[in-house]
Amino acid sequence: MIVPWSDAHPHEIARLLDVVRPDDPLARVLADVHGPDRDGDGRFRRSLVAARADRIVGVGTVWEADLHPARWRLSIQVHPSARREGVGTALLNVLLALGTARDHRPFQAATRADNAAGMGLLRRQAFAPLMRTRIGRLDPAAMAADDGDRFDAMGYRVVAFPDRPVVVSAQSVADIHAEAYARSHATWNPVRPLDAAERIDLFLGDDLIPDALFLALAGDEVAGFGSLRAGAGPGDVDLGWVGVATGHEDRAKSIISAVVGRCLDRARRDGMVMSVEVDDADLAVSALLDTLPIGWEPDWLAFARPGPPTG
Ligand SMILES: CC(C)(COP(=O)(O)OP(=O)(O)OC[C@H]1O[C@@H](n2cnc3c(N)ncnc32)[C@H](O)[C@@H]1OP(=O)(O)O)[C@@H](O)C(=O)NCCC(=O)NCCS
Repeated sequence: MIVPWSDAHPHEIARLLDVVRPDDPLARVLADVHGPDRDGDGRFRRSLVAARADRIVGVGTVWEADLHPARWRLSIQVHPSARREGVGTALLNVLLALGTARDHRPFQAATRADNAAGMGLLRRQAFAPLMRTRIGRLDPAAMAADDGDRFDAMGYRVVAFPDRPVVVSAQSVADIHAEAYARSHATWNPVRPLDAAERIDLFLGDDLIPDALFLALAGDEVAGFGSLRAGAGPGDVDLGWVGVATGHEDRAKSIISAVVGRCLDRARRDGMVMSVEVDDADLAVSALLDTLPIGWEPDWLAFARPGPPTG
């Protein structure tokens, strides 16, 4: 029996989530989306629970992703003792119907590439792979010392954010991040328009290490950027947003090398291990990371399913 999420059974749901919530931090984010109804633009959410003989055996949610509202998002978890009995499919079917009843947006979900069950459930319901995201870790201290040429700035001047020319405002740096982010997601996961304050929050917000945001400059014009962000633990940093400004795409390879090289130097100097995450759509960053000694985790795969025909 599939019933709406209700405050009537929070303890049982909490117990189920304790069991199904994975250690994997990425999958955990998706296992933590379930909750009471939310309404309003960009916030819609409906969670369902699957009950069997008064025991809760599964939970699933359809929701609208604030930054990327073009597709409904889905997440489903089934108790290990109730798997392969159709519970996941039953939840998925009701969630698809809930989204479709609201509007005809397509659907999106994600799993690790080594999650045969997650991929099997999605493929069975006409989801197809949309994007591969590679995730890994790199210890810059372990890299060979002769890597200087690879990160040659090729005519660009690279400065840390606090040392930027006075004509380069923080807002303009945030705007360039937003443009590059929108461009790299346009074909597969479109970003909604962001206002000026949102751009500052998102791209120059709390997790940024300001003097580890490097700008590649052509004269006083920002051609590209790359940064380190606070990582999961005290010895960790994340390679954060890396990109090129509009009009400089044809020099992307050089610009990306210049700024990533500075991020690596900085992480090495501070004795930090660097986490990286790159979508296949991000060709220049992907090509550069391919040349580095990164320990890759299983890929993260986004899947999409068309909405119903609108004609
Ligand atoms: C993925 C998950 C929700 C599937 O739940 P479930 O109730 O076992 O799924 P169903 O019984 O409805 O299975 C539907 C189909 O998915 C596929 N599938 C399910 N488990 C599978 C497995 N272990 N290996 C391969 N395919 C599998 C099969 O095609 C299956 O149909 P079949 O049993 O007729 O062959 C469950 O394994 C789970 O909670 N995993 C952890 C969380 C997760 O990965 N969520 C997916 C992200 S949306």
